[in-house]
Amino acid sequence: MTKRVHVETRINGREVDFLCEPGQSLLEVLRDQLHLTGAKEGCNNGNCGACTVILDGRIVDSCLVLAPEVEGREVTTIEGLAGPEHLHPLQQQFLEHAALQCGICTPGLIMAAKGLLDQNPAPTEEEIRLWLAGNLCRCTGYDKIIRAVQAAAQQMEARV
Ligand code: FES
Ligand code: FES
Repeated sequence: MTKRVHVETRINGREVDFLCEPGQSLLEVLRDQLHLTGAKEGCNNGNCGACTVILDGRIVDSCLVLAPEVEGREVTTIEGLAGPEHLHPLQQQFLEHAALQCGICTPGLIMAAKGLLDQNPAPTEEEIRLWLAGNLCRCTGYDKIIRAVQAAAQQMEARV
């Protein structure tokens, strides 16, 4: 039997520790052990972006990150985005622009968009489209998603 690994990390601003198999993915641990089911399993091989989370400020496909790799690091999932009283502007604008249908891609898209706005608060439409190219959506046709990200960027800029 494989020896389990003890991992200490921070998730959504909280100290968290868990035991996992050395080959287990971060996505598996988030969903199955920590009950953070916002990150979705689509392809499980790095192609769809449904599992996107932020690791030390960079977006990653959590299906491709080994859970032991987050030792001592900072993970943000969709569950960590909203404040106590308000949705994050991206969440708000996805709702207002009806930028989702089945919703499977939505947490990943929002986390990827957050990664973009964190480093580029006023992206062009082309920059948004390029940045989100790794996040697949089978339902919306993408336009509403792009509009939602643009509106969120404007809302965030207006707050500063
Ligand atoms: S489930 Fe991770 S990229 Fe598709
Ligand atoms: S809303 Fe269904 S896959 Fe994007």
